[in-house]
Amino acid sequence: MKQKNTFSKIGFILATAGSAVGLGNVIRFPFVMGESGGGAFFLIYMISILFMGASLMLTEMFLGHQGKAAPASTFEKLATHNNTLWKNIGWGISSFSNIIFSYYVILLAWIVAYIWLSASGGLPHTAADADQIFTNVRGDMLATFVSGGLIFAASFYVVAKGVVNGIEKLNLILMPVILIIFTGMLLYSLTLDGFYEAVVFMFHIDFSKITLHVLISAIGMSFFTLSLGTGIVLAYSASLPEDVNFVRSIVYIVLLDTSIAIVSGLMIFSFLFTYNGDPSAGFGLVFITLSTVFSKLGVWGEILGVAFFTSLLFAGITSSVSMIEPMLKTIHIRFNVTRAKAAVILSVPTAILSISVVLSFGGYLGDGGTLLDKLDYVLSNVLLPFGALMTTVFLGWFVEKKRVVAVLQKQLGHFFSLWYSIVKYIAPIALILVLFSLIGLI
Ligand code: PFF
Repeated sequence: MKQKNTFSKIGFILATAGSAVGLGNVIRFPFVMGESGGGAFFLIYMISILFMGASLMLTEMFLGHQGKAAPASTFEKLATHNNTLWKNIGWGISSFSNIIFSYYVILLAWIVAYIWLSASGGLPHTAADADQIFTNVRGDMLATFVSGGLIFAASFYVVAKGVVNGIEKLNLILMPVILIIFTGMLLYSLTLDGFYEAVVFMFHIDFSKITLHVLISAIGMSFFTLSLGTGIVLAYSASLPEDVNFVRSIVYIVLLDTSIAIVSGLMIFSFLFTYNGDPSAGFGLVFITLSTVFSKLGVWGEILGVAFFTSLLFAGITSSVSMIEPMLKTIHIRFNVTRAKAAVILSVPTAILSISVVLSFGGYLGDGGTLLDKLDYVLSNVLLPFGALMTTVFLGWFVEKKRVVAVLQKQLGHFFSLWYSIVKYIAPIALILVLFSLIGLI
């Protein structure tokens, strides 16, 4: 019997939303929003998501759906000229998310450590304890190798199983679990005294905080959160069912991604404000501050800790499988090997990078444990915006307009021209600004 090799409609939406919803939504978005103008930042972020994020997502979906192949072959096939150059750019873009995977899996290993700490009553009681525990978790190479190795192998296994039997199945199970845990935690935080303060912290409108940098960071974040510029949506869309409605799928994906980001923020800040935690920046926010808050709640804290870190782990796993797909598909198609073989080939360089990151934290590379930060800086600030820029430029300038009109004019109606000019002119300019700003040129 021939294997089914296209997503179901709901499977595609959950898989793409699964890629979008990740550590960035839970850890980074709420903090940046609170610090950068609250409601004013949110307004700009939403405008950017709706006009640019959604436009680029539609671009990747269209390209994937037309090419029905890995990103590199799709670029090569659809280009009106410079096909070989575009094939190489496709190869480059496909490798970005794999590099992200190599260190993302380490973050997931730390999250496993926090699930264990929550379940075994080992969460920190004071800020000093919390710092020490976080340092210990990062330096514990054996634990990181074991849990990171398992997540690494499981993610490759799922992707090797295929789009339908692996990726879709995983997302059909994990996404509802994430949604249920988040809803439960939101309901719990509604009962906390700090809920109102959390709403104010996140949504008070302060236009005076909107600087050029905040504006650009909102735009950058809208691309990052939807996993754009990595070839992921492009690769997933190669397995779209024929009669899919692109616009409707994007609406659902954006809704899921944005609601999880907001709910995470409301939940985290309700806890922090109720129990006097300091809303400090970045990763420390959940590993240091939130875990200390949970420890004050006794058994409830243990249950909440396990639930929270498990949902964070699941959100991370649905993103990490998506990171493997573009390159795995590329190898599978270009070298005409099975997905399993492609997974084995790809896992070798990826594992070398992951092991280097662990060794860096164990103090073995002489870089003070900064390899992860360096990789993350280059990927998030340079390569992803570059990938997004290349994708918009490709559709706007190197794909026959007739082809685009034939498929999207009907779905977009009057909005077609607006979308096309965003992709051809506005998004490239915005992305160049984002790129310049992120690497410090603006
Ligand atoms: N969209 C993910 C998040 O917001 O956490 C992050 C991400 C996933 C970025 C996959 C890039 C990527 F390739």
